[in-house]
Amino acid sequence: MSRRACVIGHPVAHSRSPLIHGYWLREHKIDGEYMREDVRPENIDRFLNRLAERYVGANVTIPHKEAAFAKLQHPDAIAQALGAANTLWFENGALSGTSTDVHGFLAHLDASLPGWDRRTGTALVLGAGGASRSIVYALLERGVGRVVIANRTNARAQALADRFGRRIAVVDWASISKVLATAELLVNTTSLGMKGQPPLALDLAPLKNSAAVYDIVYVPLETPLLAAARARGNPVVDGLGMLLHQAVPGFERWFGVRPIVTPALRMRLLADLGETERP
Ligand code: ATR
Repeated sequence: MSRRACVIGHPVAHSRSPLIHGYWLREHKIDGEYMREDVRPENIDRFLNRLAERYVGANVTIPHKEAAFAKLQHPDAIAQALGAANTLWFENGALSGTSTDVHGFLAHLDASLPGWDRRTGTALVLGAGGASRSIVYALLERGVGRVVIANRTNARAQALADRFGRRIAVVDWASISKVLATAELLVNTTSLGMKGQPPLALDLAPLKNSAAVYDIVYVPLETPLLAAARARGNPVVDGLGMLLHQAVPGFERWFGVRPIVTPALRMRLLADLGETERP
């Protein structure tokens, strides 16, 4: 029987995971399928109870990442640290899970700017939602000495600092420009700059020219933040690679082959998003 995996969300129509996994299934000529499952919050518990009847595993997206974590019999260390899971599989019948956003964020940064971690003493992270939680954890795990978080709602940034410890500092959203000069890496994890949202209005003047600017938004591929950073010569990292790299560990678990994020796959995604590559 062909192996099947799925992405579980609500809504789920927008998910690009079927495109990514479908591409790799064809590339490796694997007898497998990857489906979309729109599951309402009141049904997620029941759906996960019966997951093994139809699937070898799943991705989980908004709003189910915390509910999925709560169902895990074997959460790995990352899932435990984050209290969320986006990738599920079975080990000896037990529901196991992790969050691959941590891997996706770091793998794309490593591929884009090799050695970035040796140059980064301080990272400034904008936003304090689910994506920020994964990214703050990733930066601390990689050994970044100091992570500064700024969020519109200060209390959420403070909650992240309380969760992850003393190497985190919190600054007011209104004070970002005062700490910009201290950062070797600036990461936008907010939805600002996304198509249909206001831009992230930030005067980059205090930022060192060597500081890297990473925006996890990928529609548009080049956000106003990245365009401004590129124009003043800062190294920039777009959000599409994180989406592609976070899919790698799940595919390997379910289908037994570790896939590679290639320029051809990136082009395929860009075409689907109606975007084109920037210089
Ligand atoms: P995700 O899981 O993608 O991180 P989220 O948990 O909804 O999504 O978080 C969205 C982030 O974007 C939050 O940091 C949010 O700030 P608040 O915590 O204050 O809501 C931020 N954000 C969204 N719209 C914003 C805006 N107009 N100005 C500033 N920050 C904004």
